[in-house]
Amino acid sequence: MSSFEWNKVIASVLTAMIVAMVSGILAGKLVSPTEPAKPAFLPAGSPAPASPSGAQQAAAAGPEPIGPLLAKADPKKGERIAKVCTACHTFEKGGPNKIGPNLWGVTEENMGAVPGFQFSAAMEAHKGEKWDPDKLNQWLWKPQSLIKGTKMTFAGLPKAEDRANVIAYLESLK
Ligand code: HEC
Repeated sequence: MSSFEWNKVIASVLTAMIVAMVSGILAGKLVSPTEPAKPAFLPAGSPAPASPSGAQQAAAAGPEPIGPLLAKADPKKGERIAKVCTACHTFEKGGPNKIGPNLWGVTEENMGAVPGFQFSAAMEAHKGEKWDPDKLNQWLWKPQSLIKGTKMTFAGLPKAEDRANVIAYLESLK
């Protein structure tokens, strides 16, 4: 490369640096953070701000009801979707527990009742209850929303159709 070309390279690098510096300064002037007038989190025990839509919002934040979708759910599709579960679960009869318990017959038995698996205390608190499609719908939507403190660290299946297919698959395992 000739020294003339090197000059061009150096000049363009310098220009880029100056542009970056100036835009940084301008950005700082344009966007000045403002403190919120009210704290976003209220200390525990303080009265909750009156909001009549609060309950409605909570209801809307739950998963879609699963009943209508279950009618046309397909266990074969569910089995394919449930591949994401096999990192932690086995599905076959007598399969081993992994990070999570074996799931054969899970819809028949009580919650948190798989022998030889150390369930979380949160899950143990539900012993004696049974899994049903509505509970599984909530669970597979967001495990923490059904059982706070569960050690199933799975983000959930956002699509209701996927949950319906997986529930149909779980129900077929018996
Ligand atoms: C990252 C690991 C992980 C993934 C992925 C995962 N699970 Fe789990 N699962 C767990 C653990 C751990 C538990 C036990 C929870 C506890 O004790 O709190 C559990 C518990 C369960 C239970 C309750 C079992 C019982 O006997 O009551 C069901 C049902 C279940 N998982 C279904 C699924 C399905 C279906 C998927 C895939 C869509 C899935 N899980 C994905 C780790 C996982």
